[in-house]
Amino acid sequence: MKKSKKNIAVLISGTGTNLQAIINQIRTNKLKCNLAVVISNKQDAYGLVRAKKAGIPFYFIDHRGLERKEHEKKIVKILEKYKVDLVVLAGYMRILTPYFVRKYKYKLINIHPALLPSFAGTDGYGDTWKYGSKVGGLTVHFVDEGVDTGPIIIQKTNPIKETDTLESFKKRGLKMEHQALPEAIKLFIEGELKIIGRKVKIKK
Ligand code: GRF
Repeated sequence: MKKSKKNIAVLISGTGTNLQAIINQIRTNKLKCNLAVVISNKQDAYGLVRAKKAGIPFYFIDHRGLERKEHEKKIVKILEKYKVDLVVLAGYMRILTPYFVRKYKYKLINIHPALLPSFAGTDGYGDTWKYGSKVGGLTVHFVDEGVDTGPIIIQKTNPIKETDTLESFKKRGLKMEHQALPEAIKLFIEGELKIIGRKVKIKK
């Protein structure tokens, strides 16, 4: 019997270039899963336009005026409706409560634009740059109850060149993100990840 594809959801707040990378890899069959739904907490997130263009169900769930958990409950309702196996945070700019994180334990991943545990928070590229680091990078990790602290799945380094500007550093980094996030999703959906404490082993 043919195995059915895993359903993934992508949560966004903005431009959605990582979302686009996922859409593209599914379209070209490099990533064999079903992008079941896209959810944004921002109405004007361009990622919603990308979802619409790709024919993927999309939702705007406003967080304003709601307790964090109430907002998350609305999201969970949608994720349950679409029977989501993996939730991908791709530029989702809200900190999740333990309620959500526990519900999707080890089924919730995030991409962070710095080499964690350095430069956690909202501006990974800017903070790496301002610090004067010689090497930046990205981290794809499972989400736990801390901020950018969960077990690491993939890290890639992005050395900073003497000729770089913040913009050129970031541009190169984003391009790397667009490879790394689908790569991590692929490992997850193929069952290649084994979590042992803080360590994520890649089986193959
Ligand atoms: C990316 O740099 C991601 O690492 C960070 O937010 C940014 C989102 O970019 N969490 P995009 O919306 O995917 O273009």
